[in-house]
Amino acid sequence: MDSLDNITARKPVSIVMIGAGNRARKYLEYIISSPDKVTLAGVVEPNPLRRDVFADHCGVPADRRYASVDEFFNLGRVADAVIIATPDDCHYEQSMRAIGLGYHVLLEKPIAQTDEEGEAIARAAERAGVVVNVCYVLHFHPYFLKLRELARSGELGRIVSVSHRSPVGIDRATHVYVRGAWGRKETSGPLLTSKCCHDIDFLIWLTGSRCRRVSSYGSLRWFTEANAPEGSAARCIDCSAESGCPFSAVDLYRRRHDWISNFDVPAGTTIDDAIERELATGVYGRCVYRCDNDVVDRQVVAMETESGITIDFAMDLFTTDCRRTTRISLTNGEIVGDEQSITVSTFRPRSTRRIDFSHTVGAPFHAGADLVTVENFVNAITGMPDDSRTDITDALESQRTCDAIEASRLELRR
Ligand SMILES: NC(=O)c1ccc[n+]([C@@H]2O[C@H](COP(=O)([O-])OP(=O)(O)OC[C@H]3O[C@@H](n4cnc5c(N)ncnc54)[C@H](O)[C@@H]3O)[C@@H](O)[C@H]2O)c1
Repeated sequence: MDSLDNITARKPVSIVMIGAGNRARKYLEYIISSPDKVTLAGVVEPNPLRRDVFADHCGVPADRRYASVDEFFNLGRVADAVIIATPDDCHYEQSMRAIGLGYHVLLEKPIAQTDEEGEAIARAAERAGVVVNVCYVLHFHPYFLKLRELARSGELGRIVSVSHRSPVGIDRATHVYVRGAWGRKETSGPLLTSKCCHDIDFLIWLTGSRCRRVSSYGSLRWFTEANAPEGSAARCIDCSAESGCPFSAVDLYRRRHDWISNFDVPAGTTIDDAIERELATGVYGRCVYRCDNDVVDRQVVAMETESGITIDFAMDLFTTDCRRTTRISLTNGEIVGDEQSITVSTFRPRSTRRIDFSHTVGAPFHAGADLVTVENFVNAITGMPDDSRTDITDALESQRTCDAIEASRLELRR
């Protein structure tokens, strides 16, 4: 797309990773496996342990390991593109600085913390003539692609209404949205935006229509001090109620060894040491009723699109499962999906067929979608056609809708 950058299909695109956490590790897999298309030109990460583990893993030399974005951005433009995989409250400022220097940007969701910030990024990208894509990975996920293809094929007529549910899963919920870094609205934004901007984006992408009206309800109902069991303690390891608590950190991390991939393991120590450290002094050892969380723990949304489709959507933290379910009502039939399979039924003649997707459930990298997200970004930079609708201009619609949903939730709260 930009000959000035001296980028050709044959010259690998050079990318600097900003933030070397969980998401960055996924995108790195594509970079490592496609040296003909892309190279890692550096990593920016304030945590020295993570920075070095990440850089050692892919051979980034010492002089391209940056401890802060200031150190990196002060160099000017030293690569073609950046991937921004930092916490939500960093996205706006880092995108603006990167675009200002002429970098193409692959930006983790959510785009920013407000609609205005998102608009500013889109305008800056247009002015600078750079690609800014948002990591809406569901656009590259085989199951969601098929669901959309079926709904829009015309085979079952026109979409009338959609009923969509996003169960978060209780372990993810307590780890990420109660004890973890996404529990406070001030830093991570409303939970519906930080977690379910994927779902809102999916609904817009599925229906091909913008949201005209919305109303929403939700609040923090359970994870507050008022609901702490009698005699419970500030940390699960000291708690007399631990053995009967469904949200116990001892059970989740020490017994089940689940949700421990973001625990840092310094050289010479083990993951078990890291778990014990968290339980004794870390944020993840805290009682779920005594954290500093203030985001909702369930929310419902009713929407109407500009084309007249009605949508009901629910997000719930109190679930054992975390597979999204979608029921699409069309004029000539119905499509029902639960990520394991899609069932397509027609009204006349009465018929039902089932498409199996069990092979994609739990498959790594969101069933490969994370890797295609980077590939698609690299292709867009090199001028290849991109109909994924993940560029900032399309992606902004989900940010606008999420903002409207939060405004409605706050307005209607009594
Ligand atoms: N697309 C998806 O499916 C998906 C899934 C989960 C999370 N996310 C989003 O991806 C982003 C990263 O999430 P994660 O799970 O990888 O978090 P993480 O905490 O594992 O990684 C973030 C990394 O950024 C580093 N960091 C913090 N401040 C920084 C700064 N100023 N400059 C550079 N690095 C900084 C942290 O030290 C950390 O290593 C978030 O915005 C999150 O909402 C997207």
